[in-house]
Amino acid sequence: MIYGFIGLGNMAGAILRGMHRSGAFANDTLCGFNRSPGKTQVLQEEIGLKPMESARAVAEAADVLVLGVKPQMLPEVLPGIADLVTSDKLVVTIAAGRPLSFYAEAFGEAVPVVRVMPNINARVGEAATAICPNGAASEEQAELVRRMFRSVGEVFDIPEQQFAAFTAMAGSSGAFVHLYIDALASAGVKAGLPKKLAEALACQATIGAAKLTKMSDEHPIALLDQVCSPAGSTIEGVHVLKKLGFETAVQQAAQAVIDKDAVLAGK
Ligand SMILES: NC(=O)c1ccc[n+]([C@@H]2O[C@H](COP(=O)([O-])OP(=O)(O)OC[C@H]3O[C@@H](n4cnc5c(N)ncnc54)[C@H](OP(=O)(O)O)[C@@H]3O)[C@@H](O)[C@H]2O)c1
Repeated sequence: MIYGFIGLGNMAGAILRGMHRSGAFANDTLCGFNRSPGKTQVLQEEIGLKPMESARAVAEAADVLVLGVKPQMLPEVLPGIADLVTSDKLVVTIAAGRPLSFYAEAFGEAVPVVRVMPNINARVGEAATAICPNGAASEEQAELVRRMFRSVGEVFDIPEQQFAAFTAMAGSSGAFVHLYIDALASAGVKAGLPKKLAEALACQATIGAAKLTKMSDEHPIALLDQVCSPAGSTIEGVHVLKKLGFETAVQQAAQAVIDKDAVLAGK
């Protein structure tokens, strides 16, 4: 089985490194082409990726063809490979905002396509990835894609109409968390901690709280209650967050992402 990548940028690079790290995908099954040659060379040296001379060469060689270019590049890339993308191939697309119907138009209804939405946490093996196969993809093909993306984190099967909400929850929310960590670390600096230490503490506390929530059977609010002693200091901070609209801000930010996604998708 040959896995061919067109576009070897941040996300494709993270997926390829994860596949390589997992040990489940042999080096000689991974090939790719990128517009500028530097990234291909790095991946060749790092994980043994086979460099290809063009997008067409990848499409021809691949059993599983991964489209890793930006969504706006697809109208330029797909016509150049469409005649090579036949129903015996599996197309995996990570492009944001492009529905399965877009690929049916480019390749025809009979070509199996799996729409995938990973996130950048794939770089550290902690992605949340949504997948949705089209009608031509078999369960075996869907499972193959799950296996690929389990090498960079967790995989969730969702219907296509939930991709916008998924993007807000799992994609854009990373930016919200970075903002939170920076704000918390900045408060630590104000209280006299060195910046590096404040950042390390804010990161570890955020990772720990997320892990505890994930691994516990208890509701997040039940866990919050356990941290807030009566008349203690934590409840003071929680009240300030509530007074300043923390929950509303997070919810409105997620909704803004979903709304913008709809605008970009031309809905
Ligand atoms: N980054 C994320 O957090 C994230 C999350 C979910 C989904 N995605 C999706 O992942 C895809 C890639 O995003 P990215 O962040 O990885 O972008 P990126 O780093 O810019 O990668 C895109 C790559 O495609 C290459 N490219 C452009 N046109 C090409 C062509 N005609 N033939 C071959 N290669 C070409 C670019 O080459 P150059 O080196 O010449 O620029 C670049 O390396 C997008 O569809 C995006 O929606 C990204």
